[in-house]
Amino acid sequence: MVHIFNFNDIITIKDLKREDIDYIIDEAFKLEKVAKSEENSDTLNGKILGMMFFEPSTRTKLSFETSMKRLGGECIGFENSITSSVAKGESIADTAKMFEAYCDGLVIRHEIEGVSKFISDIVNVPIINAGDGAGQHPTQTLLDLYTIKKEFKKIDGLKIALVGDLKYGRTVHSLAYALGLYDVEMYFVSPKELKMPNEILHDLEKNNISYYEEENLKNIVDKVDVLYVTRIQKERFGDIEEYLKIKSRYIINKELINGKNLIVMHPLPRIDEISQDVDNTKYNKYFEQAFNAVPMRMAILKQLLK
Ligand code: NCD
Repeated sequence: MVHIFNFNDIITIKDLKREDIDYIIDEAFKLEKVAKSEENSDTLNGKILGMMFFEPSTRTKLSFETSMKRLGGECIGFENSITSSVAKGESIADTAKMFEAYCDGLVIRHEIEGVSKFISDIVNVPIINAGDGAGQHPTQTLLDLYTIKKEFKKIDGLKIALVGDLKYGRTVHSLAYALGLYDVEMYFVSPKELKMPNEILHDLEKNNISYYEEENLKNIVDKVDVLYVTRIQKERFGDIEEYLKIKSRYIINKELINGKNLIVMHPLPRIDEISQDVDNTKYNKYFEQAFNAVPMRMAILKQLLK
């Protein structure tokens, strides 16, 4: 028997095959009504999800909590190290052990790449990587693909541009790998200082996945179906002067995209990279994308906590 989406943890999108992604997208579609509170569910009744957040979060944390509650489960946790015993010097390993004792699954966001993997090796409850530094953000990728599928009814055949901070942006790192499993045309649009890391480019090449790199946004807006825009990750710059030189390099506004046949996505938060004049246009899919986190994370939690 083929086991689809049979994971204990979600640490990196690289662990998932295309059939896993297609399966979980189908599961998310089935949960739309529960996500909108049009139907009730008690699937995760009695289950407790732990939330260990060492970096700021709005959507990821709230949507995991909403997803859990809509399925009849509950959440505990903290949203910064200041209010936990980490502030007293407790190790992250001991902290995770406590969550293991109290919870059925654990969502972790941390500024250091590899922390979720490290914890998954020492505790026995399912671990979800909700962002590890400039590493990966696999559940964001799943909801991004869900958003694309909802919009176009397909992923194959599309032309997709990842725009902005491709060096430090974990959402685009995961997304590039996942898109590589589909028959898409990928455009990586960034200043040369913030190019997609070589390691990821090499991995794509190894798997015969082609991509185009581009610095000028204007050269690709006529070509693509999706503009996936990202924030310049200020907190990851060693030198603030470098950040100041690059910030506001790409601004998506109504004038740039008017008349084009594309949608605009963004994992959010946005700073100034998408002008507010796009919000009330048909191009705006970023707020719906944020809602889509709920059915997708419900589908993921159902699989991992069952
Ligand atoms: C992103 C993140 O934390 O990586 N946000 C999110 O989870 N929706 C993007 C970002 O912070 O720029």
